[in-house]
Amino acid sequence: MDRPVRIAVALSSMKSEQWTEPLRAACAQAGVAAQFELWDGRRIDARYAVVWLPPPELFAVETGLRAVFNAGAGVERLLAMPGLPPNLPILRLVDAGMAPKMAEYVCFYIARITRGLDRFGGPDALRDWNADRPRGTPPAVGVLGLGAIGAQIARAAQLFGYRVRGWSRTPKAVDGVESFAGAARLTEFLAGTQILVDALPLTGETRNLLDRTRLSQLPRGAHLINVGRGETIVDEDLLALLDQGHLASAVLDVFRAEPLPAEHRYWHHPRVTVTPHLSGPTPREPAAQQIAAAIAALERGAAASSLAGYVDRSRGY
Ligand code: GLV
Repeated sequence: MDRPVRIAVALSSMKSEQWTEPLRAACAQAGVAAQFELWDGRRIDARYAVVWLPPPELFAVETGLRAVFNAGAGVERLLAMPGLPPNLPILRLVDAGMAPKMAEYVCFYIARITRGLDRFGGPDALRDWNADRPRGTPPAVGVLGLGAIGAQIARAAQLFGYRVRGWSRTPKAVDGVESFAGAARLTEFLAGTQILVDALPLTGETRNLLDRTRLSQLPRGAHLINVGRGETIVDEDLLALLDQGHLASAVLDVFRAEPLPAEHRYWHHPRVTVTPHLSGPTPREPAAQQIAAAIAALERGAAASSLAGYVDRSRGY
């Protein structure tokens, strides 16, 4: 019998020990005998690694890696690691159960905004049976980034009756979603968006994209929900526009520095809701199945670049 394929698991804060069994079971189901080992700094001759913010030594020690699986959607920090071998294929998760949870999170906050749900909680709760209800035209929701996650958010918002528009780097079609593509159409997209949902990956092109100029292109009273990456927003510009009342509120799940430093203004700003990067937790079973399917394909000789989630390093995701 073939020796099991050795796979290093280095998942930082994601509790590596809870992943080995789902990964092993998913590989067995995909027909691959695999041995997953929590990586402790010693060489295990791994053929693959499943990582989330791994120790940089991993790549210097495990020199026989054929591919690395990122146990999340965003790869910007992995790509920025100094010791990452330039030709090592990286595969990231595509949806893997994250997208519906993120769509749920976003739609929850959209409902909170559009129905004024904050009025009804806490010690000062409004106790008025005749409280205003929204009956007018629903606001336009604009989703920045139409990858697996952004597209799911757009579909979910549409299901709840919103007019949905989406912006992406290259043209993307999502049923019923008015689609805008490329830098040349970003101004037009923002100008017609009342609730902006940022679902962008962090790349050279998206870093600091939402600065004062761009955020000012949203109509007065617009809201922002960020589930993409903190670095896509210039914090000082967002705070200034919230202070001036140009923007009505911001719901932020991702930040330039995480954990968000205790002294950051976002924590206490009356128009800002901070959540601790929880909109899209990676569910273990679907993620393990996606990784196992890719390992099985690679073991059968498929090229990494032909698989879903293959990271094009020149694009950054
Ligand atoms: C979470 O932020 C992820 O990239 O999956």
